[in-house]
Amino acid sequence: MIRVLFVCLGNICRSPLGEGIFRHLVTRAGLDAEFEIDSAGTGSWHVGAPPHHGSQRVARDRGVDLTGQRARQVQAVDLQRFDYILAMDSENFADLNSLARNSKTTAQIHRMLDFAPRLGMRDVPDPYLGGPEGFDQVFDLVEEACQGLLAAIAQERGLKGLPTG
Ligand code: 4NP
Repeated sequence: MIRVLFVCLGNICRSPLGEGIFRHLVTRAGLDAEFEIDSAGTGSWHVGAPPHHGSQRVARDRGVDLTGQRARQVQAVDLQRFDYILAMDSENFADLNSLARNSKTTAQIHRMLDFAPRLGMRDVPDPYLGGPEGFDQVFDLVEEACQGLLAAIAQERGLKGLPTG
């Protein structure tokens, strides 16, 4: 089992899209049985809440299912359970690394956009206080990075039938 966790601040805008888009790609590749996919936030404000309506709207428009997702806060134990942890921005990345320094960690913590080098961007912008177009941009960035991530994992783990470039 390959365990992948997407992390942002609130777990209502960006990381739910990471979870939903990555699951969509994994399902399409016929690899559901190989993966456990989840998301969490570094903050606790929205624990128990469904994804933001902006994320739900863009996901619906683009054929990705976020049904059943509820926000939760990342825990130190997540850093032992998950193999790949994807931070949406530099603040999330720094917070995860602080948590890792104080706990037994087996996860690899990455910046999400390191898997989309073509974009030349470091952070997935926080769309929380902006308009609907912010959520479309997040979808585009996260979709490209999810494709890169799945290709990278496929190469590392020797999964068959996937592009590894
Ligand atoms: P997310 O967006 O980290 O992509 O889920 C945010 C959600 C909530 C807040 C900030 C960002 N907030 O300040 O409550």
